[in-house]
Amino acid sequence: MVILGIETTCDETAAAVVTRADDDSGRILSNVVLSQVSEHADYGGVVPEIAARAHVEALDRIIAMAMAEANCSFGTLDGVAAAAGPGLIGGLIVGLTTAKAIALVHNKPLMAVNHLEAHALTARLTEGTPFPYCLFLASGGHTQILGVRGVGDYLRLGGTVDDAIGEAFDKTAKLLGLGYPGGPLVEKEALDGDAARFALPRPMSGRHDADFSLSGLKTALRLEAEKIAPLSNQDVADLCASFQQAVVDVVMDRLRSGLRMFRDRIGNPSALVCAGGVAANQAIRKVLHRIAFEAGTELVAPPPALCTDNGAMIAWAGAERLALGLTDTLDAVPRPRWPLDQVVRTVPGQRNH
Ligand code: KG4
Ligand code: ZN
Repeated sequence: MVILGIETTCDETAAAVVTRADDDSGRILSNVVLSQVSEHADYGGVVPEIAARAHVEALDRIIAMAMAEANCSFGTLDGVAAAAGPGLIGGLIVGLTTAKAIALVHNKPLMAVNHLEAHALTARLTEGTPFPYCLFLASGGHTQILGVRGVGDYLRLGGTVDDAIGEAFDKTAKLLGLGYPGGPLVEKEALDGDAARFALPRPMSGRHDADFSLSGLKTALRLEAEKIAPLSNQDVADLCASFQQAVVDVVMDRLRSGLRMFRDRIGNPSALVCAGGVAANQAIRKVLHRIAFEAGTELVAPPPALCTDNGAMIAWAGAERLALGLTDTLDAVPRPRWPLDQVVRTVPGQRNH
């Protein structure tokens, strides 16, 4: 089957065409991503109103590019998928309404996909990873540990109670005047820094659950920075290194706990899968390899372009759902909040609630 996927939940306008064969294997025919980073850079974060307007302006063109690159016409598609949440409401309306229009005009099935489900299933597109596996999703908007048991069958093992990890990196970078997005800039500074110079907390460490809390760490960093201001270049590097080390330690502790919960509730995972922009961080990546090894499994990391937001993951999640007959009607609603454990395997033709 051939599926068009549309992604507009945050600050990427993206469309892609993906195929899924009867043996479950996937292939990406096109994957076009337009980043709005430069439009939000001055504000140190995503501005919802700017994002929504940029999606309206760009989406038709991005879809046309994805269709042309895949050498495909709307008539030859088997279905249209759009991310219907969670995300910023303006962008969700733009993407989902566009998908509905294409589905209606060309009489194709519509799949209103959960963005987190799409991240969760990407490893099956790129690596054919079998169920069940443990997913560590860490981006600017999300930090979650999930048991992925099947399509539409997710067990939330843990998540952040306040900031996402990427958000904490972004706020740290903003505080230190480094720019946006902050993750890669903090990582670069940390290379020249002393990770032991500042004693920052490791929030939630040692707890039996698999939850994260990042806002206290951010505050502790701000207090340390204020104590020694004005900051030299070395101070900035040391603060970045100390911050990153605290995050690495927290990830290690929380994921160990998450994998223990996975084994207790589900059994042995076929893999530890990482997704989201934060997984690009080399120090974090290293610790993920170590945790997977300790747990007797392997780390699966889809290529960076597919770990961050893109249309191919939405198209693939749509294909996985369509293969099971899980489609949505034209009254599917955009859902700014949509926890993954509320994604259900709906009866065909019924609303995906
Ligand atoms: O998945 P993503 O591209 O977009 C969404 O948030 O949906 O993730 C972007 C986030 C940003 O917060 C960015 O600072 C963070 O991922 N990030 C990193 C690194 N590269 C990107 N965080 C730490 N280290 C990195 N190298
Ligand atoms: Zn995402």
